[in-house]
Amino acid sequence: MKILGIESSCDDTAAAVSEGVQLLSNVRSSQLGHKAFGGVVPELASRAHDQAITSVVEQALDEANVSLQDLDAIAVTLGPGLMGSLLVGLSFAKGLAAQTGRPLIGVDHLEAHKMAAWVDIEEQDIPHPYVALVVSGGHTRLEYISGHSLNDIRLLGETRDDAAGEAFDKIGKMMGLGYPAGPVVDTLALTGDPTRFSFPQSMLDQPYEFSFSGLKTHLRRFLENEYGVVSDLEQDELKRRLGNDLPDLAAGINVAITEVLRKKALEACEDTGARTLVVAGGVSANTLLRNSLLASCDEHDIALHIPPIDLCTDNGGMICRQAYHLVMNGQHEQPLEPYARQWMRGIQS
Ligand code: KG4
Ligand code: ZN
Repeated sequence: MKILGIESSCDDTAAAVSEGVQLLSNVRSSQLGHKAFGGVVPELASRAHDQAITSVVEQALDEANVSLQDLDAIAVTLGPGLMGSLLVGLSFAKGLAAQTGRPLIGVDHLEAHKMAAWVDIEEQDIPHPYVALVVSGGHTRLEYISGHSLNDIRLLGETRDDAAGEAFDKIGKMMGLGYPAGPVVDTLALTGDPTRFSFPQSMLDQPYEFSFSGLKTHLRRFLENEYGVVSDLEQDELKRRLGNDLPDLAAGINVAITEVLRKKALEACEDTGARTLVVAGGVSANTLLRNSLLASCDEHDIALHIPPIDLCTDNGGMICRQAYHLVMNGQHEQPLEPYARQWMRGIQS
């Protein structure tokens, strides 16, 4: 079964082609225009998707050596995400479905992030039950998954305020690291001393709940008191004031965020008895998180599944894999209504 998967929920225009659980291509065009604004500008994002989507899809088909008529289905992200961005992908996918007469499969973005861990792994080989930690720019949540059906997913807990990726981005922005700051903090931290600064690890006493806004406030005060860093400074001036301490600061922040994620994920496995852990979403690309989880899971005899780096941040491959999963489990008739309601909330806010 060949599926074209299209993803456009935020600032990556992505498309992939799969055959069964294998990816034949995986193409992404990341929008750089938001860097100057320190975050994603929704209007710019939808226009950039509109400009990129045709060539991204064409490239995905070319690299897979597949024509539109070879496809069995077209899959697309329905949400959650930015309304205007989602609608570009959905309209494009609907057009292709109408043109080819192939079914359109709507996919939930967060479900797809998790399924990125099972690319190349057949449905019957997915080990249940497992715990999933989904950590992206918009979400941080822990789930217990006992079977193949969407009804087998139990939410254990999620963030009460900022998502882990959002914390990386907002704190990094205060330090003049641009957008998205998560990968920059990750890289800087590699050369920093993680023991020099000890920043708060929040909500360790509430098993599955997360909160990162306290860390953000702590850092804002700390950077202001210690380095005279205030919000209206230019990026270069921010970096100049932090000077040679930047890598150590990045290392301290990296530890504060990733340790909370590691500890809570492990706790969820211990409490539920699950022996498999999936970690997915943009933040799962983080070097320290990957390495520390690898060591902890090894120690506790837990099988760890983290997607390869290019399947961690938003991509079309995860949309293909989730669509295939839905088809194989007879759940591909996704109702559009809950997503349409989310889009309407987007219009009203
Ligand atoms: O899943 P994703 O691509 O988009 C959303 O669904 O939100 O995640 C993007 C988030 C951003 O906040 C970005 O800073 C973060 O993932 N991120 C990272 C790393 N790579 C991406 N955070 C920490 N370390 C990384 N290496
Ligand atoms: Zn995502």
